[in-house]
Amino acid sequence: MLEPKIKFENVVKNFKTSSGDNHILGNLSFDIFAEEFVCVLGPSGCGKSTILSLIAGLLKPSSGKVIFNSKLVERPDSSRTLVFQEYALFPWLNILDNVAFGLTTKNHGKEKPQKKAMEYLNLVGLSEYKNYPVNQVSGGMRQRVALARALAVEPEVLLLDEPFGALDQQTRENMQNELLRLWMKTKKTVIFVTHSVDEALKLADRILVIGGKPGKLLFDATVAVSRPRDLKDSHLINIRNQILDNLTHPDFFMGSDI
Ligand SMILES: Nc1ncnc2c1ncn2[C@@H]1O[C@H](COP(=O)(O)OP(=O)(O)OP(=O)(O)O)[C@@H](O)[C@H]1O
Ligand SMILES: [Mg+2]
Repeated sequence: MLEPKIKFENVVKNFKTSSGDNHILGNLSFDIFAEEFVCVLGPSGCGKSTILSLIAGLLKPSSGKVIFNSKLVERPDSSRTLVFQEYALFPWLNILDNVAFGLTTKNHGKEKPQKKAMEYLNLVGLSEYKNYPVNQVSGGMRQRVALARALAVEPEVLLLDEPFGALDQQTRENMQNELLRLWMKTKKTVIFVTHSVDEALKLADRILVIGGKPGKLLFDATVAVSRPRDLKDSHLINIRNQILDNLTHPDFFMGSDI
């Protein structure tokens, strides 16, 4: 049987606060397989970023197991890179040095970090801008730099936390197409957090809908529709309705901004 790339086994996550334990994730179990593009959808505060941090190894579960390649996740490593909700770039470095930054700590054989960084800047279409300071380029370009930086360490799993949330509609659509192109080319396992049902329907092989307090898996939808997708496709409309039914279920509704 095919081993999952990532496995959540009865994962519970509580945060201690001054007013007691805050129960964020309650008994979450799911499998993600190699090369899958999975979107995680759910209202603000349901624990989506927490799920990514658990996979990245930045947080540990309160109970249960997070497993990667059949081993317990115990710490961060470059096989799983996270692109944060904010761009998290170094404003004092230029574009090329931002991408090369993570590479200076990893042994890439004879290949120089800057050469590797250029390869990935090329991939996201930014090689001409390599000397620009990041604080002098647009949000869409910064997001490409963040993507190039995450890809340049050649991770097995790419964790993306609402990467396009701050972009205008046109730039967002361009970036979605760009990401799909990169994914088809590199065949990483991608876990992509979003608030947007339509973004998930456009991108994902599978959509995990999280909701409730503590957060549970409300719905696990397989999206077997070829790309590029038309959101008016009857199969996608059907999945969309099922997702919305789950998100607005009275037991789980949290005042979502979806
Ligand atoms: N380190 C922490 N300590 C205490 N509470 C935390 C910590 N990290 C997250 N939380 C709380 O856990 C809950 C879930 O947070 P998380 O960031 O995972 O939500 P989210 O689904 O990503 O929300 P959003 O869509 O707004 O980004 C929130 O109530 C948050 O305040
Ligand atoms: Mg978040």
